[in-house]
Amino acid sequence: MTAKLILGTEIREQILAEVADEVKQIKANHGVVPGLVTILVGENPASISYVTLKIETAHRLGFKEVQDSQKVDITEAQLLGLIDKYNKDDSIHGILVQLPLPKHIDEKKVLNAIDPDKDVDGFHPVNVGRLMIGGSEVKFPPCTPAGIQEMIVRSGVETKGAEVVVVGRSNIVGKPIANMMLQKGKGANSTVTIVHTATKNLDFHCKRADILIVAAGVPGLVKPEWIKPGACVIDVGVNRVGEKVSEKTGKKIAILRGDVDFDAAKEIAGSITPVPGGVGPMTITMLMKNTLNSLKFKLGI
Ligand code: GUN
Repeated sequence: MTAKLILGTEIREQILAEVADEVKQIKANHGVVPGLVTILVGENPASISYVTLKIETAHRLGFKEVQDSQKVDITEAQLLGLIDKYNKDDSIHGILVQLPLPKHIDEKKVLNAIDPDKDVDGFHPVNVGRLMIGGSEVKFPPCTPAGIQEMIVRSGVETKGAEVVVVGRSNIVGKPIANMMLQKGKGANSTVTIVHTATKNLDFHCKRADILIVAAGVPGLVKPEWIKPGACVIDVGVNRVGEKVSEKTGKKIAILRGDVDFDAAKEIAGSITPVPGGVGPMTITMLMKNTLNSLKFKLGI
């Protein structure tokens, strides 16, 4: 059997088209557009490329977008002052501080200073609590887990009563996606197990999974024989395992490998996300959706 591919590159385009349509309607009816500010401290190349992509995507959707780049030696107090400014700016509905921050700045303090109603990353403790309660309390599900749930739903995988096994317990992926999949409601209502570095018999748990979500950051951790035939496999791992020369551009590019042995797993799974082109493109997509929703909450629509 060869699994159906769940492509983030395709699902992204569907969702972005829906967001762009809503932006047009809201602009016509209410005279406002979603506003997103990305705050970048320093010149970390990976952060620059992420932020550039976020801003380009926001621009393409008709958002107001602000790229606020700060020198690496900005003080914590100055950064907190900047956040306060955007918290009070009525034209800004989403504030994103690109991580990681330089060592002299307390990341927690900065994230906690963002108005929870503009926290489109969903990292503020208030939004973590809202997610835990579930239902209508939820405002901003964190972007990668939200993208994973969209991929599962849009590829027609049944989640109600499904055995979901999540490999990894990070605050950004493992814990929130586990929490989201166990809530009552569409695209969830599953029986959830979280496994992690101290779990005995990882393979035993993975073999039970109707939906296996792997966010461990260990290339090739999940072996094909750990996959239940027909299961939906979501691979969140993006591991750089080397470099190669791109056939298209002639430039050196990273060789990326997921946490799942893809070539063998696709012969057993019912559906599977590739790396790259799977979960990766969904994170920025859901950031756009969260920013749109922030404006909708404000307008009460
Ligand atoms: N750095 C890497 N990924 C992310 C993300 O999703 N949000 C923020 N704020 N920083 C990041």
